[in-house]
Amino acid sequence: MELREVMGRRRSIRFMRPYQPVEPEKIQLMLEAARRASHWGNVGGLRAVVVYRDSAPQETLDALYAPVAGFQIRRAPVVIVWFFDSNAVDEQADRLRELLEAGALGVGENKSEVLEEKLIPFFESIRDHLKAPGLNEVDCGQGIAQATLMAYEQGLGTCCLGTADTEEIRRNLGLPDGCRVLLLQTVGYPAESWEAGGQRPRQPFEKLFHLNRYGEPFPRSEEVVRELTDDGFFTRPAPLPWREAELEYLKKALDIPGTGLI
Ligand SMILES: Cc1cc2nc3c(=O)[nH]c(=O)nc-3n(C[C@H](O)[C@H](O)[C@H](O)COP(=O)(O)O)c2cc1C
Repeated sequence: MELREVMGRRRSIRFMRPYQPVEPEKIQLMLEAARRASHWGNVGGLRAVVVYRDSAPQETLDALYAPVAGFQIRRAPVVIVWFFDSNAVDEQADRLRELLEAGALGVGENKSEVLEEKLIPFFESIRDHLKAPGLNEVDCGQGIAQATLMAYEQGLGTCCLGTADTEEIRRNLGLPDGCRVLLLQTVGYPAESWEAGGQRPRQPFEKLFHLNRYGEPFPRSEEVVRELTDDGFFTRPAPLPWREAELEYLKKALDIPGTGLI
């Protein structure tokens, strides 16, 4: 599948086949994709614990409580717990030296000196700031996004889930001090059709993106939209006419209590 089609087929999948295990190789593909993402200063603070429903201790599964649509956690064969390890920032100087060595950073003969005498001391002086939430979450999001696209390329579905008690999860998984749990991501083979009721709504393009200054919408070419539609990036919008019937079917098949919303 081409990237555009993978992006077009990606949508949050909340209903997974509980009986079909996910091959570790496919999870590895996701992790490889996350690792290849760009990270500020090449620090690579994005980390993950992969939790398999079939083999993880019950107390670990219980700790992964999600306040919104918690049934997803209980049914998904795999939950990836993505976290940020702020201790990685302590190795910042070495990561910069590696980038220089790789020819990615700097030009000219005295680039090593400038790195050692100016850039590294600068980073050291703001180390606490560099560990703080903000840029790191953006950084980790890039890796998670790449892993997500890789999952869909493999025929898997995923849903990102925010979680309330990240400290409880951190303790339960034995993550070192300085690690922040970011997100739980369910992974499995979709029990719903790939369209999953159709492509979900988004805010208008013109409202989101600006040209040169806020308030001037970035021009949107209809030709580009047509090209993306032809490439499978835009697919049929939700809700498809039979979605309610599909949801009824899934509710029974997966024994989902109540509305599945909380
Ligand atoms: C960071 C993040 C957190 C999310 N948290 C939840 C969640 O807690 N529960 C849930 O059902 N969906 C969650 N979602 C999925 C979004 O609600 C989803 O983007 C939306 O359903 C429509 O987009 P999509 O179907 O194209 O992914 C989350 C998505 C992201 C990126």
